[in-house]
Order: sequence, then structure tokens, then C-alpha cells
Amino acid sequence: MSTHDPGGIGAGSEHGDEHLAASGRADSEAADHYLPGADVDEPALIDVEEVRPELADPQLVDALVAPDRAVHARMGEPLLQMQGVTVRFGGLVALDDVTFDIRRGEILGLIGPNGAGKTTAFNAMTGVYRPTSGTVMFDGASLGKAKRFSITQRGIARTFQNIRLFNEMTALENVVVGTDARHRTSVPGALFRTSRHRREERDAIDRAMALLEFVGVGGRATEKARNLSYGDQRRLEIARALATEPKLLCLDEPAAGFNPAEKESLMGLIRHIRDDGYTVLLIEHDMRLVRGVTDRIVVLEFGRVIAEGTPDEVTNDPKVIAAYLGVPDAPESEETTDAPA
Ligand SMILES: Nc1ncnc2c1ncn2[C@@H]1O[C@H](COP(=O)(O)OP(=O)(O)OP(=O)(O)O)[C@@H](O)[C@H]1O
Ligand SMILES: [Mg+2]
Repeated sequence: MSTHDPGGIGAGSEHGDEHLAASGRADSEAADHYLPGADVDEPALIDVEEVRPELADPQLVDALVAPDRAVHARMGEPLLQMQGVTVRFGGLVALDDVTFDIRRGEILGLIGPNGAGKTTAFNAMTGVYRPTSGTVMFDGASLGKAKRFSITQRGIARTFQNIRLFNEMTALENVVVGTDARHRTSVPGALFRTSRHRREERDAIDRAMALLEFVGVGGRATEKARNLSYGDQRRLEIARALATEPKLLCLDEPAAGFNPAEKESLMGLIRHIRDDGYTVLLIEHDMRLVRGVTDRIVVLEFGRVIAEGTPDEVTNDPKVIAAYLGVPDAPESEETTDAPA
């Protein structure tokens, strides 16, 4: 039996977020999360007619995408540390005493079979779940009881296993909403249009445009998100996450549902992001892909770390082969073995 999710659109699950969204206590969480309440219209931040998506000067794009980023500063030192993190859901132990570091300037792969705890690890890092025990240290301080919004402000951004965008907003607006995490004026504050806000908004639009160019969807800036192709929506999510100016970018299966050429191109983008000085945590099922792009890999199985090391070390580790690579998971069959419901 293959434990490998074939990675179709919306593949896998994100129990945590769905559970939170479904629960009554989603109100404050929703604000943290930029999700408008059901009774609130999505704010029209930008008159899209005024925006000309033509910011194609590569140097300008680079400067705006990675502003003042000290690429080599403290490279290799731990940026995020999972220290004995356990997350329980009732009787189920989704993460069991998990310890590993993410080092500054690296692309760390987080792999493991379905249900291994990868998304739960993201949720523990981004304040969706507070660990039952253990500590998440980020940039020298414990995340403690920090809420999602303040975790974003401290420099962790993520994308979701299932795409989450404001479908009725343009691509550009989706990214501008991301830049808002950095600004003093909030989304509701935007409605008052103070001069400070107008300046911030102009800067935000410039940077959002640059980010769209950077991820390869600049030409779609004024399209509603829902009209973008699936692949472009995935890229748009990355642009939105980068808009928060993170130190750490966490990507939860960003290439799920992509064909091999699209995957290769996305991995090029992820490398470029790393080269711009961001640290990247990448969840990805496709082993070939993970080997090609990551600096190190952590392997989870049943909520535990079973291996950690360079791609070569990990893929030659007998425990990993047994747990993960050993499954009959031939690439050709991955695309076609979706079990009938
Ligand atoms: N909110 C929740 N309530 C109950 N169980 C949960 C919840 N969130 C996750 N789980 C369980 O925790 C375990 C780890 O799930 P998680 O989503 O982290 O796995 P994953 O490695 O991301 O898997 P996939 O590759 O399918 O995305 C699974 O057994 C899952 O069913
Ligand atoms: Mg997952």
C-alpha cells in the first residue's frame, strides 16, 4: 500500500485549520488570519484600473522583493528550534517529543508519510496550535502563547496545503493584504485613508507588484484570484506570504497537483527565495524534488523524528527507506493511483 498522497488539487488534509474555522472561537483567529467575517464585504483596497502591472525591471523587482536583507548574516545558526514539542488531539499524539532546528539561510525539507505530523508541525510553529508540551523557539525567543498575527509579525509566514486566497479580490490585492501585516494601519484602518495610510498603500502596491513579478504572475495582477490557474494561485499564495517580510517561509506542499515541469520551475523559485536571504521550510511528498532542492531534510513518521541530515544521508537511511521510500510508490503510479472513493 502506498502511504503517498497522489497530490491532487486540495490533496491531503489540514485538520487543524478546518477544525478551527469550523469552531465558534474562530472570530479572533480569523482576524489574525486575514479572513473576512461572513458578514463583512472584502475591502476593495486598490482601484485596479489605476494599477499598471508593468514592473518588469529585474533589478527593481529584486530590490523590492528582498529589501535590506543581509543574506549572509548569521547563516547556519538556528532560526527556529522545535524543542521536545508534543501535540495531542485527545488520545492521538500527532507530534511526539519532536526536536529539530531550522537554520538561517537553508531550505529544510520536512517529509514523511500521510498523517506523519508535518502540517501539525507547521501549525505548532504558526500559533494555530499551542503544543501540549515542549517549546518552539524563534529568532532567539520562545513563541510561548503568541497569537498568529504576532507570529507573522515576528517573521514566520506560511502557505497552506489547501489554497486559501480571497477569491473575489485581485491577485494584487491578495498580496497587498499580506503586506498589511507589516504596517501600522490595519485593513479596517485602510478605509480611513490617512496620509500615512496612503503612503503605506503606495509602497505596498509597489512591493506587491514586485512580488507578483518575482513569483511569475505579474501579468495577472488585476485578475480576480479565482480566475487564476491552479498553478498561478499556488504562486500567488507564496507572493502573499512573502509580502509579510518573513524570516522563515513555510510551504506546505506547494507543488501538490503540479506536473513535473511545473514542479521543476517551482523549485527554481524556491531556490531563488532562499538565495534572496529567506529561510525556507518545505513540506513535499515528491522525494526526487525534495532531494534536488533542500539543504537538509527532517523525516517524520507517526509524529516522531526518525531521521535528519543531508538529502543523501536521509535517503540512504534504512529507517527512512522502510518508513517512506520503501513503500511501492513508483512515480508513474503516483499520478494515477488515487483510490476510488
Ligand atoms: N485537529 C485535529 N484533530 C484530530 N486529529 C488531528 C487534527 N489535526 C491533525 N490530526 C491528526 O494528526 C495526525 C497528523 O496530521 P497532519 O495533518 O499533521 O499530517 P501530515 O503529515 O501533514 O499528513 P499529510 O501528508 O496527509 O498532509 C493525523 O493522524 C491527523 O489525523
Ligand atoms: Mg499535511
